[in-house]
Amino acid sequence: MNGGPGESCADSCPRMFDLASTSRFPVGQAYKLAPYIGPRKVAGPGEIPEVDETKRNALKLAVVAGVIAAGGGGLVGASLQYVGKPPIVGLASYPKVQIMDVDGSPLTATKVMNEYNVTTHTVLTYNYPLRDEPNFLINLAPPAGGSGGATHVPGGVGPLGSIVSFSAICQHLGCEPPNITFYPPGTCPQTFGKLDFYIHCVCHGSTYDPTNKAANLTGPAVLPLPQVTLLWESDDTLWATGETGPPVNGHLDTLQGDYGVGSNSQLVKQSPIVACNIA
Ligand code: FES
Repeated sequence: MNGGPGESCADSCPRMFDLASTSRFPVGQAYKLAPYIGPRKVAGPGEIPEVDETKRNALKLAVVAGVIAAGGGGLVGASLQYVGKPPIVGLASYPKVQIMDVDGSPLTATKVMNEYNVTTHTVLTYNYPLRDEPNFLINLAPPAGGSGGATHVPGGVGPLGSIVSFSAICQHLGCEPPNITFYPPGTCPQTFGKLDFYIHCVCHGSTYDPTNKAANLTGPAVLPLPQVTLLWESDDTLWATGETGPPVNGHLDTLQGDYGVGSNSQLVKQSPIVACNIA
């Protein structure tokens, strides 16, 4: 599905929002660190093992209480203080993670070139390197036989060097998809020279250039989106192997703040929210 003109519009068409409603969008919609509900994860190679802080702190308090009791209770209770530190979770280094298609099969450059191009409205994201760090996967190439778009861009992979990936967390105040999405040509009247497609965040209007390492085109964001280093293997599969640029917004370090995604990460699709609040 490419969301081009004349196609059916199941999940490929943007939801157009009027600017009055988008201006009421809560300023600073916080980047959310959602609690993980599910089985505890066993640390994999290169991962920092998870620490059960509840058990550890209970043990510390028991030890301190024992010391006080052994000393005849001469120490005041006020000495019982929280001695634990917040848990540190994350990765020691960037892992090599295979990107999987929406159906769970390995994603290949051929699939991307056949199914997606610069006219694709559907938002495609996958998490990397941590579970709470979504990234866009975008093919900037024109449709087969068509024109426009961009090829052989910085960081681009695939037969035309047009498949790129950037953090999908806005560098301003952390809005995430579908509020920040890729805008195909013609989505908004604004252009930047010949550039008629870009990544835009409706929350407060930041715009990024996917042909130039997601550099800022409009603020209020001042930093580019971090770019995922993609690897196009000889068997046509696509992998994430690292990240360049500033830290992912909401993380002091892109590798810290949640658990790693594991050995692979699956694409998910969303319909974008669109507003042309581009100054
Ligand atoms: S969060 Fe403010 S422009 Fe994206």
